Amino acid sequence: MHLSALLLCLSLEALVKCATASDWCYTNCDDTPSTWEYLHGASCGGKRQSPIDIDTNNVHADPHLLNFNFVNFSSKHVIKSITNNGHTVKLKLHDGKVEVSGGGLNDTYSTIQLHFHWGNREHHPGSEHKIDGQRYLMEMHIVSMKKGLTIQQATEESEGIAAMAFFIK
Ligand SMILES: *[C@@H]1O[C@H](CO)[C@@H](O)[C@H](O)[C@H]1NC(C)=O
Ligand SMILES: *[C@@H]1O[C@H](CO)[C@@H](O)[C@H](O)[C@H]1NC(C)=O
Ligand SMILES: [Zn+2]
Repeated sequence: MHLSALLLCLSLEALVKCATASDWCYTNCDDTPSTWEYLHGASCGGKRQSPIDIDTNNVHADPHLLNFNFVNFSSKHVIKSITNNGHTVKLKLHDGKVEVSGGGLNDTYSTIQLHFHWGNREHHPGSEHKIDGQRYLMEMHIVSMKKGLTIQQATEESEGIAAMAFFIK
């Protein structure tokens, strides 16, 4: 199922404010990803632009990246709720049970939710990120917050939130 994964370190602001602006969309519309930073209340864009199109001719391996350490990712007892919020299906996890560290992360992060981006229609074209201009059918985002921080604190820290993205064929 999972072909490749990329790790994005986003501020909660980027994640939440981009996601809550009501008028965002992906293709053939006014507010495509490159304009999200200008939407009311948004703070993504620039060096924190997400989603992006990853040009594989122009990427560099980071020799400092470590293996990830996943805690309780295979537990069947960590899902608190599953909701349809109008944009996606979102699974919230019980607080403090699931953790991730390692990779390029400087700390341990508590995993709080996961959700999906999928579709084959104009405004729901599939994955958010692209590789060499190509979208995948679906993308899963696993969102974690730096351990020990409140949501408010994580929002204010540039490394407060970590999102892992998985492309799905
Ligand atoms: C992993 O899950 C088990 C069972 O719910 C729990 O006892 C344990 O504390 C969890 N590990 C962490 C690091 O939270
Ligand atoms: C980890 O810390 C280094 C040094 O401060 C910083 O350059 C890097 O961006 C941090 N990594 C993440 C994922 O925040
Ligand atoms: Zn997402």
